[in-house]
Amino acid sequence: MWDALKSLQERHANRRFQTLFDSQRAQKFSVLADDIHFDFSKTNIDDEILTELVDLAVSRGVPHARDEMLAGAKINVTEDRAVLHTALRKPGGTIRVDGEDVMPGVLDTRSRMLAFAGAVRRGDIRGAGGAFTDVVNIGIGGSDLGPAMAVAALAPYADGPNCHFVSNIDGAHIHDVLKGLNPATTLVIVASKTFTTIETMTNAQTALDWMGHSVEDPGGQFVALSSDLEKTAAFGIDRDRVFGFEDWVGGRYSLWGPIGLSIALAIGQDDFEAFLAGGAAMDTHFAKAPLSKNMPVLLALVGVWHRQVCGYATRAVLPYEQRLSRFPAYLQQLEMESNGKRVTLDGDLVDGPTGPVVWGEPGTNGQHAFYQLIHQGTDVVPCEFMVGRRGHEPDLTHHHRLLQANCLAQSEALMLGRDVETAKKIAAQAGFSGDELDRQAAHRVFPGNRPSTTLCYPKLTPFVLGQLIALYEHRVFVEGVILGINSYDQWGVELGKILATDMLPLLDGSDDASAKDGSTQTLLAYLR
Ligand code: F6P
Repeated sequence: MWDALKSLQERHANRRFQTLFDSQRAQKFSVLADDIHFDFSKTNIDDEILTELVDLAVSRGVPHARDEMLAGAKINVTEDRAVLHTALRKPGGTIRVDGEDVMPGVLDTRSRMLAFAGAVRRGDIRGAGGAFTDVVNIGIGGSDLGPAMAVAALAPYADGPNCHFVSNIDGAHIHDVLKGLNPATTLVIVASKTFTTIETMTNAQTALDWMGHSVEDPGGQFVALSSDLEKTAAFGIDRDRVFGFEDWVGGRYSLWGPIGLSIALAIGQDDFEAFLAGGAAMDTHFAKAPLSKNMPVLLALVGVWHRQVCGYATRAVLPYEQRLSRFPAYLQQLEMESNGKRVTLDGDLVDGPTGPVVWGEPGTNGQHAFYQLIHQGTDVVPCEFMVGRRGHEPDLTHHHRLLQANCLAQSEALMLGRDVETAKKIAAQAGFSGDELDRQAAHRVFPGNRPSTTLCYPKLTPFVLGQLIALYEHRVFVEGVILGINSYDQWGVELGKILATDMLPLLDGSDDASAKDGSTQTLLAYLR
């Protein structure tokens, strides 16, 4: 199957895919899921390639793996865990892990968490100085990126306390966030699945000290979100201020449950439930739609085509939506921590590339920064555009039209490019002639034939954001299944953590650094 795809790619490598457009192509190479529209017609994928890609998904066992994941099978084999973030957004039903239904626990925690958020928002739960005006979420990775991204995305729905996020161990981060806040009206959330992460625990202690200077019972203004209840108790947070979750929720998939508390505090129960419903709607689509009309599967197959078959090393995520400014960073963790692996489930070396580098910025900002390389650089970067039909600013619809026009123009420009004849006309109009005209024209040529996809959604509501996140989660899963890797562990983050602990006494000079390599010794000496 891989060989067939590779030979199709070689056969069509020089084809200009704009020539594939007939009256059917845009419909055939796009899919609708609950009013979200995904268009992948501006790629070199044709009928034959699509059939081969869908066959690949079948032969790699995607439908079976999907059903296993959704049913709570322990597909995270290196940690012997189920992968059940989908349970966190389910309205009810039954899912068994080791014979036990997990849904009563999920629903109980959800209602405790939403009741808590409601009480804070109403001012029934208060700080020493009155109703909470500010919330500081201290967490990192999945305990930060998801909630921070979602709170920014849903700003038009935010009518609760102001939410701030502290993640970095760099003291500048917590310093700059806390300096504008009143400790007596600030609620601190310590968000850490393991409750051991050095950045989070250090920042949490700093926040506790900060609050202790002026608040009599600082611990009373702390909340913990974790799956380790012993450690939260040891930190001194009351059991009724702890919202726990099971180890079958991966950190980067955890914003649907307690880790999403800051989202619920910002937007309230109804909108938070709409967010969960959006995720659940995408789960239903993923579970039921045939593979050839299944949006997460198609997103994954386009990804596999570009990365594994065409060999493009990166993909750019380009939301034309300023409020999705943290979405690329969020996807970086989701995709790169999940699928940046080098061995298969059996521990054998993977034959070929795994996950691509994922990067991006919102449009139109990126257009004035890095799109130059995307259009005229020597590497092909598949682009994933995102744009809403409507914005939230009724008085600024002309801004939104300009935003949309730019988004559509970029994918068109990437596809069509500009040939040398046209470039020469432009150079001639600018007054150039002779050899200089040829030289100037060369700089104005765009190769075109550069692939992109476009995801359109009605409006960035809580429901739609839920759909989008779940869409990408399932895309990562499908790509992982096709590659035969475990998308749910992250051993690659461990070594650096261990070495950082060893490095500490070398930095303050209390240990001898002579066993280190020359580079590290020199850097240590400089920093000391
Ligand atoms: O070091 C990586 C990581 O484990 C991520 O997978 C995780 O999202 C992040 O650290 C934070 O972990 P925790 O929620 O346990 O503090």
